[in-house]
Amino acid sequence: MKVVIASDHGGFRLKQEIIKHLESKNIQYEDYGTYSDESVDYPDFGEKLGEAVASGKFDRGIVICGTGIGISISANKIPGVRAALCHDCFSAKASREHNNANVLALGERVIGVELAKMIVDIWLETEFLGGRHERRVGKIGAIEEKYRR
Ligand code: RB5
Repeated sequence: MKVVIASDHGGFRLKQEIIKHLESKNIQYEDYGTYSDESVDYPDFGEKLGEAVASGKFDRGIVICGTGIGISISANKIPGVRAALCHDCFSAKASREHNNANVLALGERVIGVELAKMIVDIWLETEFLGGRHERRVGKIGAIEEKYRR
């Protein structure tokens, strides 16, 4: 599985921890920045990562900002992106099983590193269930088509 990860300055330290964790598990990843804790704008990183996932270059993406909110809203503007902000294990599992989330969003200022690593593991390991959930996810795509300009 090919993973891409990105953050703003508010998520930079957690991104570095998650990268170490991915490396310890031999998970292939690309780091789309930011590369320091200097102030940047989260939409730039949500957009860049969202485009890379929607294009099929990567199977999954992980975005991190202070809350996980701004960067997930930004990534979700890209058609084909289903970014889920998950700060608990149940949501991480459900976002894969029910929503086929292809981007996981985390907030560095909200959760601790160990919980974040556990959420990442569950989210990367869990498969989409399909079935009735396929129809619902299909309807999300139909909404994107309806409003596409
Ligand atoms: C940056 O200060 C902060 O606003 C950002 O990381 C994020 O929390 C926005 O949603």
